[in-house]
Amino acid sequence: MSKKVAVLMGGSSAEREVSLETGAAVATALRELGNEVVEIDVTPSLPLDLAEVKPDVVFPALHGRGGEDGTVQGLLEIMRIPYAGSGVLASAAALDKVVTKDLLDYHGIPVADHVVLESGCDADREILVATERLSLPVMVKPASEGSSIGVARVDSAEELAPVLDQVFMHDSRALVERFIDGKLLTVGLIGPEPMILPVLHIKPKVGFYDYKAKYQPGMTEYEVPAAIPDRLAERTQELSLDSFRLLGCDDMSRVDLILEDGTDRLFVLEINTLPGMTATSLVPKAAAAAGLSFTDVVAEIMDGARLKINLAE
Ligand SMILES: Nc1ncnc2c1ncn2[C@@H]1O[C@H](COP(=O)(O)OP(=O)(O)O)[C@@H](O)[C@H]1O
Ligand SMILES: [Mg+2]
Repeated sequence: MSKKVAVLMGGSSAEREVSLETGAAVATALRELGNEVVEIDVTPSLPLDLAEVKPDVVFPALHGRGGEDGTVQGLLEIMRIPYAGSGVLASAAALDKVVTKDLLDYHGIPVADHVVLESGCDADREILVATERLSLPVMVKPASEGSSIGVARVDSAEELAPVLDQVFMHDSRALVERFIDGKLLTVGLIGPEPMILPVLHIKPKVGFYDYKAKYQPGMTEYEVPAAIPDRLAERTQELSLDSFRLLGCDDMSRVDLILEDGTDRLFVLEINTLPGMTATSLVPKAAAAAGLSFTDVVAEIMDGARLKINLAE
């Protein structure tokens, strides 16, 4: 059934450029599926734009704050416009890595040991506590950014203070996490069930999966399905589905995990409720391994959104 779909993209987050690409790719797929599509670059006049366009359903192709964090979802709820993807609470919880980890940890899902530092804290003392508790190296990240923005590996205590200063330019809280040496895995979940896609192994050629490794062609190799024993692949998918359900995600998400070398222990790093959705993004790559085209992925996500349209009607 053809619908008028508004694709929300761009916005003012640090991930604006990626979002514009996701939005364009999703809009093309939605048109291929026979929908009428209106692309909206998100600005403070979004409520007016939506009131004018009057979409049947919205596809938020936004990453990071002001779109992946529940704020746009809240506006859509107030305007009674059905939308694809997670609701207000799951979106807000998943964008905050500290909240995500606390929730998962509380429910027995393994997460890397961590310390949270607040901007304005007694950095010297806190750094000492963090490095003693976690031992070096550590990963430092802003509590709520994506695309590896502000994420750094720190190998010595002296490096930590300047890295924290950087993080506090993006965020009021920094997550200092035990560095886990292992394989970076990711699992896409799409559609109303949801459908769990094959495990994808991300292999950055140098260092960790930073912004450059994510978006510069040739910097990273991808293996899907990951060449890991079936038992571990199943466990990876199980933990991903459990995390998706615990946070209350809907329609689409991508869960990042690390499989520790030597121990085979799995740790959930984070959940992306609006994962990148360009033709070369990870969810479409994993979907291709399961025989699904990019358009199939978007159709599957819209299937979940359609259920909400029925509820709204
Ligand atoms: N605890 C950790 N140990 C080892 N590598 C990590 C750890 N946390 C993050 N990384 C690396 O940093 C990347 C980005 O971290 P992630 O938590 O996924 O944040 P983002 O939202 O920026 O993607 C990961 O894909 C991984 O390569
Ligand atoms: Mg990630």
